[in-house]
Amino acid sequence: MARKIVVTSALPYANGPIHIGHLVEYIQTDIWVRFHKTCGNQCLYFCADDTHGTPVMITARAEGIEPEQLIERVHKEHIADFNGFLIEFDNYYSTHSPENKYLSELIFNRLSEAGSVVKRNVEQAYCEKCKMSLPDRYIRGRCPRCGADDQYGDSCDKCGGTHEPTELIDPRCATCSTPPVRRQSQHYFFKLADYQQQLKDLISGGYAQKSTVKKLDEWFKTGLKDWDISRDGPYFGFKIPGEENKFFYVWLDAPIGYMASAKNYCDNNGLDFDKLWNSGEYEVYHFIGKDIMYFHALFFPAMLIAAGLKPADKLFVHGFLTVNGEKMSKSRGTFVRAETYLKYLDPEYLRYYYAGKLSGGIEDIDLSVDDFVNKVNSDMVGKLANLASRSGPMLTKNLDAELGRLDDSGKELISRLTAAKQQIIDNYENLNFAAVVRTVAALADEANRYVEKHQPWVTVKTDLEETRSTLTAVINAVRILTIYLKPILPGYAEKVEKFLNVDRLHFADVEALLVNHRINRFEKLVDRIDRSKVNEMIEQNKEAAGPERSGPEEPIAPECTIDDFAKIDMRIAKITRAESVEGADKLLRLILDVGGLEREVLAAIAQAYKPDQLTGKMVVYFANLKPRKMRFGLSEGMILASGTGGKDVFMLTVDPGAQPGQRVS
Ligand code: 2FM
Ligand code: ZN
Repeated sequence: MARKIVVTSALPYANGPIHIGHLVEYIQTDIWVRFHKTCGNQCLYFCADDTHGTPVMITARAEGIEPEQLIERVHKEHIADFNGFLIEFDNYYSTHSPENKYLSELIFNRLSEAGSVVKRNVEQAYCEKCKMSLPDRYIRGRCPRCGADDQYGDSCDKCGGTHEPTELIDPRCATCSTPPVRRQSQHYFFKLADYQQQLKDLISGGYAQKSTVKKLDEWFKTGLKDWDISRDGPYFGFKIPGEENKFFYVWLDAPIGYMASAKNYCDNNGLDFDKLWNSGEYEVYHFIGKDIMYFHALFFPAMLIAAGLKPADKLFVHGFLTVNGEKMSKSRGTFVRAETYLKYLDPEYLRYYYAGKLSGGIEDIDLSVDDFVNKVNSDMVGKLANLASRSGPMLTKNLDAELGRLDDSGKELISRLTAAKQQIIDNYENLNFAAVVRTVAALADEANRYVEKHQPWVTVKTDLEETRSTLTAVINAVRILTIYLKPILPGYAEKVEKFLNVDRLHFADVEALLVNHRINRFEKLVDRIDRSKVNEMIEQNKEAAGPERSGPEEPIAPECTIDDFAKIDMRIAKITRAESVEGADKLLRLILDVGGLEREVLAAIAQAYKPDQLTGKMVVYFANLKPRKMRFGLSEGMILASGTGGKDVFMLTVDPGAQPGQRVS
């Protein structure tokens, strides 16, 4: 009986483009979904843009548009990228949707009713310079678990653990590097530990792949902590019911977005969402990267259990992509956007190559550019497509495009090919696509050897019917191998279907021989990769990234206008006295004459200048800066000096003949 299956891939953030790293997951999932469809199962593939949270809000601000405009544009871009790579979703939706709001509120209310939500005062990081609570990803510091430096406020790329932003060691505002101060605010927490036993039962029941269970055990041993599920405004997200300035944390509503996408599909297609998600009638699987396991193995299933809903049957976790053995890099040109790739290369090259690398584990996969070019040219073009191009034109030119019957040697070849069917199906099912690709390449070798042995280009001059038999066997080999690879190469398969003049092929058709049948004119199925195109693509990426990097490590602060800048009143000031400040080895106290006004400034220039060098110097003074109370006294304004700090600070001095108090621009 046909299976009913629901599949999801992780929702990409709506503040950036799809790149070849993302595509590992979407290609992996799409192959698995297409495999099930090709087996005749009902398999529905859902995804959506992950639209909420601060990065979207800040990106929109930086572009001077509303978050809604940004996510609408990015949604279109993502859909175009996915279409380009033949990723075929049944629904590609958005977490900023009425269904997601409804389901997020429903789940939150049920968690509250179950007594699993508590309110607690928390100290949160606040940047006094940026005037906002610092969201997790806008604080950088050392991971409290493993000590790795330069990690985000919510999770660690190195050890994969999650933490509270306030737990980071040596935190800094990611925008302006100011160490944040702590402020009190009331947050909502989900009591994850209440569900520890259910989560353990779920995992021991096969929810997670074996290779991930060890990591999960570590997390259980460390202890499950309450999860902070609210954020204070300004925040782009769903408001918490009954609150004015508190929102669901993006990671609360993001996985619920899987369900929202499914619900939207069900509502539009006459299906019952509740039955689809909760009845057990459908198997449900999430494909994810290993970096977001905590959310999918603990938080999300615990929320669903707490809300009386059904967690998925299983997670399929994959590793990251490296290119030429290293992390994708903008400066090396290997951080390739989907859109850029598509300008230069056929998407099926990448589908074929990734399939050859994916075997169902959580190890990283490497895209070696040389290997990529070789595998595609030697296997996909040289072995597979070659079989069709050796037989198709001869059949149409010399044999009226009519297939005949198989002789004994043809039957033997075909039976060897059909015998591999179950093994191929099992390998697809277990996500071992690499084994599928290897098996098909080996079978294509056999078929090519058959062609070599029977030499149709010779027999065509002497015995047309023998040649027809030979080519009938080859065409059937093409048909069978095409079915085997159809989940990986759907575009190629469609061209073969047209050439063979057959309906859409399925796994059930493997044994159905194509004999005494008229085929269509052969048209080229796939081109060899042109290495120069790959080089050009990489070069273009490098240019786009600039010579070294694509932007400063610390993001540029939100823009200010020329009017903001014009508010600064700069005057000439004469330093009448300079002295060190006891207990502050970076500060000097400067007494300034600003045209008869005396002002005192505490300036962080003590490591670059000695006090006695400064008396009498004419400097530029930021005169209308609000006085700041510091530990060592009141600082009234600032003098202009700049540099990377320490000795590397340079004061702006002007002509000694200038007039103190005079305005400068
Ligand atoms: O890590 C990410 O890219 C997230 N946007 C994935 C979300 S998956 C799901 F939970 F929504
Ligand atoms: Zn800041």
